[in-house]
Amino acid sequence: MRRSVILGTGSALPKRRVSNAELAMRVDTSDEWIVERTGIRFRHIAGDDETTGSLATDAARRAIEAAGIDAADIDLIVLATATPDQTFPATATRVQAALAIDDCVAFDVGAVCSGFLYALQVADSMIRAGAHTRALVIGAETFSRIVDWEDRTTCVLFGDGAGAIVLEAQDGDDRGILATRLHADGRHNGLLYVDGGPSTTGTVGKLRMKGREVFRHAVVNLAAVMNETLAVTGHTPEQVDWVVPHQANARILDATARKLNLPPEKVIVTVDVHANTSAASVPLALDTAVRDGRIRRGNLLVLEAMGGGFTWGAAIVRY
Ligand code: UT7
Repeated sequence: MRRSVILGTGSALPKRRVSNAELAMRVDTSDEWIVERTGIRFRHIAGDDETTGSLATDAARRAIEAAGIDAADIDLIVLATATPDQTFPATATRVQAALAIDDCVAFDVGAVCSGFLYALQVADSMIRAGAHTRALVIGAETFSRIVDWEDRTTCVLFGDGAGAIVLEAQDGDDRGILATRLHADGRHNGLLYVDGGPSTTGTVGKLRMKGREVFRHAVVNLAAVMNETLAVTGHTPEQVDWVVPHQANARILDATARKLNLPPEKVIVTVDVHANTSAASVPLALDTAVRDGRIRRGNLLVLEAMGGGFTWGAAIVRY
């Protein structure tokens, strides 16, 4: 069976790291509140010389190096972002140009925090259909550019960064991406959105969120989609080596793991040092745990995410 196997991972963070104490000088908040309600201690914020495209390119370079291939071997780039460098063309084409890849297919996918899961399913489908052999799948964001820095209920939650993986078509049954499941429910648009856009206000807009309601839906939807995806492959939660979740809130990670009877030690947590980096958070967490040696070849992984739309999804991966 033709499968998409993860050859290598990479990530990139802006140079500037911002603590809760620093934010408390800007808005009416405190380190205690942020840590207790979210688990976040730090986030990285892009400087003027750092963009979604530049972070994505750095992450992609590291993934290509880890994969042991040449950039020219890539024939597909799918980049998930809600904060592109330009309204068009796709940020994926900027990455392509920066990597000096002469010809490939390159486009962006927009599913906000679930964007990486959406991009993964798209790339996996194109690889399994035989149309492509080596794909870069990237999640990259600069949410610091769309948060309202006057709104303490949201500005403390987000950070910037990028993560990338290289997928390669290989033959085998129990390796690579084994199953993906995606969902969307557009009735909840008003719970997490940006109040601008090219076709409505003609402005970029700022992020707006009804956090408590999003939280409630997140735990229910994430547990359901993880169970649904595990049922496709026939694995039990006990067989899972690592959960690599979207990093929105440490309490969501705990509550979701509890619903699946998964011990917290099996959950990769980076929300404390990255905060919520939207589409970048799953590949950032994946690369962190691959590089620190926790995730090893042969491990069974569950990737999951939920975000604006609502959109949500999960993937079962034999790394
Ligand atoms: O990535 C997409 C998915 N996004 C998420 O999953 C986010 C999901 N939501 C959450 O993570 C949580 O709902 C939040 C972290 C956003 C908020 O935590 P919460 O426990 O739901 O707090 P809350 O919104 O119910 O607010 C509790 C109190 C309020 O004060 P009152 O009304 O009780 O007086 C807020 O005004 O905390 C106040 N508050 C703050 N206080 C200090 C809200 N933000 C802050 C803040 N500092 N930054």
